[in-house]
Amino acid sequence: MRIDIVTALPEIVKGPLDHSILRRARQKGLVDIRVHDLRDYAADRHRTVDDYPFGGGGGMVLKPEPIFACIEALKADAEAAGHPVDEVIYLTPDGAVFDQPTANALSLKHHLVLLAGHYKGVDQRVRDALVTRELSIGDYVLSGGELPALVVVDAIVRLIPGVLGDAASALSDSFQDGLLDAPVYTRPATFRGMRVPEVLRSGDHRRVAAWREAERLRKTRERRPDLLEEETARPAPPRRDLPPSS
Ligand code: ADE
Repeated sequence: MRIDIVTALPEIVKGPLDHSILRRARQKGLVDIRVHDLRDYAADRHRTVDDYPFGGGGGMVLKPEPIFACIEALKADAEAAGHPVDEVIYLTPDGAVFDQPTANALSLKHHLVLLAGHYKGVDQRVRDALVTRELSIGDYVLSGGELPALVVVDAIVRLIPGVLGDAASALSDSFQDGLLDAPVYTRPATFRGMRVPEVLRSGDHRRVAAWREAERLRKTRERRPDLLEEETARPAPPRRDLPPSS
C-alpha cells in the first residue's frame, strides 16, 4: 500500500511515522508512506501556501495552486507507475466521522492521498475538483488536519496483513465487530491485592472465550449502548479473513 500525506507542516507528521508499528510496517515494506511539503509546490519566492479569505473573516485559507500542483503530480506519477491513486482524502471537521468500518474499507485500497488543511480549511475548489472523500476524526476542531491524518494512517496501517505480530489481535479490537474490547491482564497474577480473574488463568479456552464475550457485552452496554442499537440496525461490516494459522 502507498500513502501520500500532503501538508504545509510536514514536521508535525514525520515524527510519529518513525516509531512503533508505523515504523515497523514501513521497514517491512508493507506500506510506503511519503510526506509532501506544500511549500515545495508554491510558485512564488516566499513559498506562500495560504492567503486571506475572500469576503473577510479570520484565519487563513490554503491556496489552490500548490495543492493542485502537488496532487496532480502525485496522480500523474502513480498513473505512469501503473498504480493509480484510489482516493484523495481531505481531513476536515465537517467531513464524515471516521470509524472502524471506514478504516477497514480504506485498508483494502492500494494508494491513498491524504490532504491536511489549516483549521480554516482549503479553497473550496480543491474540495470540488480533487477530493474524493472528506473525513473528520470527531466533533471538535483541531488547528490543522495533520494529527487527524496520522490518526487515519495509524488506524488503516495496523489492519494491513503482516503489520501486527498477531493477526487475531486487530480483529478482536474494540469496534471491530461493533463491540468494545474485554479487559486484559498480564503478570503478576496478584498486584497490590488485586487478582486477575481466575477464568483467564484456567487454561480453558472455551471458558476464556465465553468470559471475554460476556465482558464485551457488559462493557458495551455500560459505556456505549448506542453501539448495541447500531449492531441490530446494520449488517456486520466486511472483515478481512484471518491468514491460515501455521
Ligand atoms: N481538522 C481540524 N479539525 C479536524 C477534525 N476534527 N477532523 C479532521 N480534520 C480536522
